[in-house]
Amino acid sequence: MNEQEIRERRNALTRYASRFWAGEAEIARTFFSQTRAPEEHLRWLRVQAYKELQPRDDGIIIRNIEQIARNYPSLEKGVSRADFLANIQFLEEEFRHYVVFADVIDSITGGRLTTEELAGYDIPEERELRAVRKRCFDEQGELGRFASSFCEGGGASIFYEGMQIGGDPLSDRIAAACANVYGDEVEHAAHGADGLNAVARTDEDWALAKEMVAAISAQRLRMRNEEFGFPLADERLAEIAEGEIELPERFEAMLV
Ligand SMILES: [Fe+2]
Ligand SMILES: [Fe+2]
Repeated sequence: MNEQEIRERRNALTRYASRFWAGEAEIARTFFSQTRAPEEHLRWLRVQAYKELQPRDDGIIIRNIEQIARNYPSLEKGVSRADFLANIQFLEEEFRHYVVFADVIDSITGGRLTTEELAGYDIPEERELRAVRKRCFDEQGELGRFASSFCEGGGASIFYEGMQIGGDPLSDRIAAACANVYGDEVEHAAHGADGLNAVARTDEDWALAKEMVAAISAQRLRMRNEEFGFPLADERLAEIAEGEIELPERFEAMLV
C-alpha cells in the first residue's frame, strides 16, 4: 500500500468518525443551550477535571510523571531530547487542562477542590470507555493503541461548543477554559492519527481500526451523555452512530 492509498484510508476513517465527533458536539450544545445555574455546571466540570487528572494509580498524569523519571537516565542514549521534551509537553498540557477546569470549579464553590472529592466523579460510562480502550490494546497491540489515540478528545467537540458560550462571568470563564484546551486536543488526535498511519499498512488493518474507532467512539458518546446529565435519548445516540447527523465544516481541517 503506497502513501497515497494510506492517506485515503486515513481520510476515510476521519470522515467516518466525524459523525461521532458531531454527536459529542450535539450533546454539549444541547446542555449549553439552556440557561444553567452555576451549580448545574459543577457535575460536568468535575467529571472533566477527573478525566484530565485521572487521580488513580494508573492515571495518565502519574503514568507520565513516572515515564519521564524512568527515561531520564537514558536521555541522549535510548531517549532523544526531542522525545523527552515531547513527553514533558504532553504532561504540561494534560495537567493544565486539569488546572483550568479545577479553577472554574473553585470559582463556583468558593472552596478548594481535593483529589479525593474528584475521585467520586469517575463515572460508569468513563470506566467502560477505559475498558473498551484496554480491550483494543490487549487484542490488537499498537494498532489498538493508535485507534484509541485517533479518538482522543472526540474532535475536541465539547471544548469547541464550550468556547461558544459567554455573556456572564461564569460562561466567560468556562469559554476561556475550553479555549485553553481546544487546540491541544485537536493536536493530540492528529498525533494519534499519525501513529495509526505508521502502523496500519493493509486494508485488513484499516478495517480493524475502523471497527475499534466505531466501538470507542460509540462508548465516548455514552460517556459524554452521562457527563452532561443525559441531554440526549439513547435513540438519538443510535441515530448518530448510524450517521444521521450534520457534519460541521471544521472537521474538514483534519483531513490530510
Ligand atoms: Fe486533556
Ligand atoms: Fe489530550
